[in-house]
Amino acid sequence: MRFDVITLFPELFAPLLTTGITRRAFESGQVDVQLTNPRDFAEGAYRRVDDRPFGGGPGMVMMAEPLAQTLSHIREQRQTQAPVVLFSPIGKVLDHALVSEFATGEGAILLCGRYEGLDQRFIDAHVDMQVSLGDFVLSGGEIAAMALLDAVARLQPGVLGDPMSHHQDSFNPALDGLLDCPHYTRPEVWGGVAVPEILLSGHHVNIERWRREKRLALTARNRPDLLVRARSEGRLTPQDEQYLSKVSPSLL
Ligand SMILES: C[S@@+](CC[C@H](N)C(=O)[O-])C[C@H]1O[C@@H](n2cnc3c(N)ncnc32)[C@H](O)[C@@H]1O
Repeated sequence: MRFDVITLFPELFAPLLTTGITRRAFESGQVDVQLTNPRDFAEGAYRRVDDRPFGGGPGMVMMAEPLAQTLSHIREQRQTQAPVVLFSPIGKVLDHALVSEFATGEGAILLCGRYEGLDQRFIDAHVDMQVSLGDFVLSGGEIAAMALLDAVARLQPGVLGDPMSHHQDSFNPALDGLLDCPHYTRPEVWGGVAVPEILLSGHHVNIERWRREKRLALTARNRPDLLVRARSEGRLTPQDEQYLSKVSPSLL
């Protein structure tokens, strides 16, 4: 799959593309990331990409023409059609379902805004989807684009050392869509606190039940919306319901 990223700051992506476990996916081209700077398609000695907003007000707005030139250059390079995704606080909030769609698709053209945002005429003409990282405002779309690329890369086959790693992660509908359970490693006692005894028991059925209960309790406390969804999709067993009625009766 190929992701083209339109950004005024391509240098921000170097650490993502060359570090950590997902680096394999980027360096092998399994997730091919191409960075394009609209400044390279801007005209004039100053290669201007922004201007003051009509109607007055603070800040600057990204101009439509350099973006349109950048996009048409990218479309010529790509062999496949690809949706244009603009990162914006007004977009649909990125979640596991949307990441999974991108992770199994052919890629996209990711557009990182800066300043006050983009000229609306460009958005109306070329943007297929707006995606937000959450209810807060970043200085630019690059961190949102990196979040999406990282999440997509770790879902690719062979990228994580153990293919079961993302199976047990939070939000995975293939498992139950619940939050992940707590994890512990050596030493057995740290800061005077011992690892839960059951994890040392070697009794796999009991360990799995303990983990399941931790997932249920954590989800009930932190994300009751996920629990409601798991219930409506039939992902909770009678044993789960019995446990929940003990720990959080108000949620039933
Ligand atoms: C300073 S912000 C512009 C904010 C815009 N004036 C607003 O209030 O909706 C500049 C750029 O950062 C990116 N950005 C900011 N917050 C974001 C978020 N929560 N999710 C995704 N992208 C975001 C967008 O690409 C945006 O064009």
